[in-house]
Amino acid sequence: MSDTITMQEIDAAAACIRGRISIQPKIALILGSGLGPLADEVESPAIIPTNEIPNWPLSTVQGHKGRLVIGRLMGKPILVLQGRAHYYEGYSMPRIGLPVRVMQRLGVNTVILTNAAGGINPDFSAGDLMLITDHLSLLPMTGPNPLRGPNLDEFGPRFPDMSQVYDKELLAIAQKVSDDLNLNVRRGIYVGLSGPSFETPADCRFLRLAGADAVGMSTVPEAIVARHGGLRVLGISGISNKIDINGNNVASHEEVLEAGKVIVPKLTALIKGVLARL
Ligand code: HPA
Repeated sequence: MSDTITMQEIDAAAACIRGRISIQPKIALILGSGLGPLADEVESPAIIPTNEIPNWPLSTVQGHKGRLVIGRLMGKPILVLQGRAHYYEGYSMPRIGLPVRVMQRLGVNTVILTNAAGGINPDFSAGDLMLITDHLSLLPMTGPNPLRGPNLDEFGPRFPDMSQVYDKELLAIAQKVSDDLNLNVRRGIYVGLSGPSFETPADCRFLRLAGADAVGMSTVPEAIVARHGGLRVLGISGISNKIDINGNNVASHEEVLEAGKVIVPKLTALIKGVLARL
């Protein structure tokens, strides 16, 4: 697989999916680590393993199934990606963004990005949900940007604006749903890192000083690609572990997957509530 992606690659993947579905999803949902069970809520789904889609970056991580689940949720036609690929798995940033390009070609205009993240804001607890109000794009800022390479003019300009990545209206809807259901969502800034190593205490102090509330290894490339294409983005972090910036705790992938069990019911309620209002 090359580092950059082409319209031909995007369209080949889109054609493969289009030939296997009978509804046209307008909304896409990308599920983070441990959050996959949310896909079980989709009614009469068509299921496409991502290894059957050409040019698709395949997830190799435990807790990520690697399939598209396409059907209805709260009556809305939706495409759910269970098992995204990450930069640390060896894919280029543009390749990580390919699924979002393909979703757009299929007619999607709104993406809901979810992730498991470490809570770096001392007020956060494991099991909390956080609405992403903005992100710190440490990798794209400094080099590996998902838009690197020839610009795909069909989607957007060479130098796209990123002043409001996370859609204000969607944030307001999600906040209202949380208030109505007493989900007590937090709001904050997500910082996307490469991983797979977790952060050192010094990394965490640095990230907190820089304004981060939650730390993870995904979401930012997809959000940038989505905004380049003019899609509306809602981002939600499930806080899977609390980070002590003095280094008094140890992060593990098992802990992240375990926390998913507490987070999934709340996230399901939040997303269903948002879908009902779209
Ligand atoms: N750090 C980075 N990524 C993560 C974490 C973390 O503590 N938890 C879940 N994803």
